[in-house]
Formats: sequence, C-alpha cells, structure tokens
Amino acid sequence: MPESSATGTTQRRKGEHVDIVLNEKVRADHNYWDDITLIHNSLPEVDFDEISLETNFLGVKISAPIIISGMTGGFQKAQDINRTLAEAAAEFQIPMGVGSQRAAIEDPEMRTTYSVVSDYDVPLIIANIGAPQLIKQRGKRAYGIEDAVAAMKMIDAGLIAVHLNYLQEVVQPEGDRAAEGVTEAIARIASSLPVMAKETGGGISRRVALSLKSAGVKAIDVGGLGGTSWSAVEYHRARRKHSPLGESLGRTFWNWGIPTPVSVIESQVGLPLVATGGIRNGLDAAKAICLGAACAGVAGAVIGAASKGRSALNDKLNEIIEGLRATMFLTGVSRVSELSGIKCIITGMTREWLSATTAAELHREA
Ligand SMILES: Cc1cc2nc3c(=O)[nH]c(=O)nc-3n(C[C@H](O)[C@H](O)[C@H](O)COP(=O)(O)O)c2cc1C
Repeated sequence: MPESSATGTTQRRKGEHVDIVLNEKVRADHNYWDDITLIHNSLPEVDFDEISLETNFLGVKISAPIIISGMTGGFQKAQDINRTLAEAAAEFQIPMGVGSQRAAIEDPEMRTTYSVVSDYDVPLIIANIGAPQLIKQRGKRAYGIEDAVAAMKMIDAGLIAVHLNYLQEVVQPEGDRAAEGVTEAIARIASSLPVMAKETGGGISRRVALSLKSAGVKAIDVGGLGGTSWSAVEYHRARRKHSPLGESLGRTFWNWGIPTPVSVIESQVGLPLVATGGIRNGLDAAKAICLGAACAGVAGAVIGAASKGRSALNDKLNEIIEGLRATMFLTGVSRVSELSGIKCIITGMTREWLSATTAAELHREA
C-alpha cells in the first residue's frame, strides 16, 4: 500500500504489511460472497472437458478471468514474492499487478523488486501508483504523468492501476489525507495512459464509478469490503507500535466499506470491472462474473502461498481455476461470457444493501 514518509520507513512499512497479512487476522468480519448463491443445474448439457475459461480483458487474451492483484515490491523479500507471482502468472497466462511503486520512484535501488516481473511472459502486467500521491501532500511533491510513465516502463506494464486508499490513509495517523482535486489528477493521467482505478477494500459506489468513467479510466477494480481489511492491517501496525489512536481508528473502521458484490452491481457503467475483495476460491470468482465482473482479483487468498514458493502458489491458483471450472459445469455453461447471464440468489446483508441503495436511487429520482 502507499507510503507517506521517508524511503527507509516506506520499505520497512511494506515489509510489515506483508508480515501482518501473513500472521494476523486481517479479514473483514463478513465475507459478502457468502450472500450469493448460484443455482444448481442437474442437466448441465455441457461436457466438462469442453469448458473453456479463456477470455479477454481490455483486449488481452487470458486463460482464465483471474487477476493476481497488486500487492508488493519495495523491499528485498518482495522481489522473491513478485518473481514467484510472475512465474505463476506466466504459466497460467493470467494478468498480475505489482504493489505501489512509490518505493522505487523514490529509491531507484528498489526497482528490481518490481521489475523482476518483466522477465516472465505475463499476458498483462499492471503498474501501481496511489491516487493520494498524485496530489500535493504536506511536505511532499505530487506525482505527475512522468512518474506514471516511469512506473509502467519499469515493469513493461500494459495498464496502470491508480489505487484509491483513503480509508487506509485516514486510519494511519501519518497518512496522506489531502484529497481535493484527486479526480482531476486521475483524469490527467488517464488522458495519456491506460488507467484502471483500483479501490483497496472500501468499494466503489455508482456515483464514484460514473465520476471515474468521466475521468477517462479504462477499467475499475471495485476493491470492496469482505476480504483483506486495510483498517485491520493498520490496527495491527498501530498495536505493534503502541499507538492508541491508530489502534482505535483501525478497530473502528475494520468493517467500513461497500461490500464487493454490491459494488460490482452498482458500478456497471460500461467499463470492464474487476471484482477484488474477499475472493477465496473459484466459486467466489464465478459469483463475481455472474454479477457482472469481467475478472475476479485475488490478493489475500494467494499471498500466503506465494510467500511459501512456486509449488504452493501453483496449487492455490489451480484450486481457484478448477473451482471456477467446476462451478461452470454445475451451472451448465461452457464459456465465461455465459456466466454473466445465469441467475443467482442474493440474500442476507448484501440483499439489504442492494434494496437500500435502490430505494435511495428511487428517492433521488422522485
Ligand atoms: C500484502 C498486501 C499488500 C497490498 N499492497 C497493495 C498495494 O501496494 N497497492 C494496491 O493497489 N493494493 C494493494 N493491496 C490490496 C489488494 O490488491 C486488494 O485490493 C485487497 O487486498 C483486497 O483483496 P483480497 O480480499 O483478495 O485480499 C495489497 C494487499 C495485500 C494482501
């Protein structure tokens, strides 16, 4: 995630984030994908072996609608994790992102911890910078188009994710909290580079999706509530540092955000959507596509395996992909595009969210 102080601190913090995600409870209390049920088809009328997961994302052919979400870079161990992720992304022919490249923009010695991914034949590599860094924060310069170009070149990226993480910034006592002009700053980058706006756990509302579309982004990763909670991560960091304010803010906002399935439904504004946030397996990925996502993004579900090495990560990705294939079989579809047409049942808190947002919409229109 983005960092807000000197280079050494940035690198240390990035290491802490991975350590906390691997060793502490950082998930939101409810996984909203559990509120979605796909309907079993006893007469599938498709042969399992004929099922194809191949699809297209932003004009790039990929072997499955799964994206390894941007996670890391900027400290030495991150180079091994990024290498492992890139090897697997190349083998499975799926897109992957790197974590915030701020550390390498500030300290060229850190570049290889990201650029290692360009040694592999990954179909789409996604660069990553933070929206808060695009505007002037106290005592820091604002990143411009040249920084975004450098981030993409560093890793041979075909797309740049501009991450939206004001939730994390606000629960971090030292966070970057200036936000006025952020939409315009994204539009400036999007006017000359292919940008994907990417939330990181807070989710995207319909109003924000429309603003991002007007800003010219090519895709939206809705990054909703239900999986890794960055408030939770910051809570643990604050605890380790004996910072009562950070601890309290992290605990208070642990479950803040728009649930990922709600966000996927609300953000349909004619742009490809990536559903990241709480995807644990191929069944969750199928649910996301059924609701309208082009791809499902995974971070928390694969970081543990990635830190163990190639074989563990391959097993994990295989499990996700085969789970998706099994879901397609059990719902009687043989192509990813057909998944978006199938019926599903929406229950629980997700259903309540949707009826509340629809009611609010009708109220506004009245
Ligand atoms: C260890 C770790 C580091 C992350 N760092 C970044 C980052 O630098 N930039 C970013 O856009 N998202 C970052 N994320 C957020 C993920 O891309 C994703 O949006 C989020 O974790 C929700 O997905 P999940 O529930 O599958 O974990 C990070 C996630 C993890 C687990």
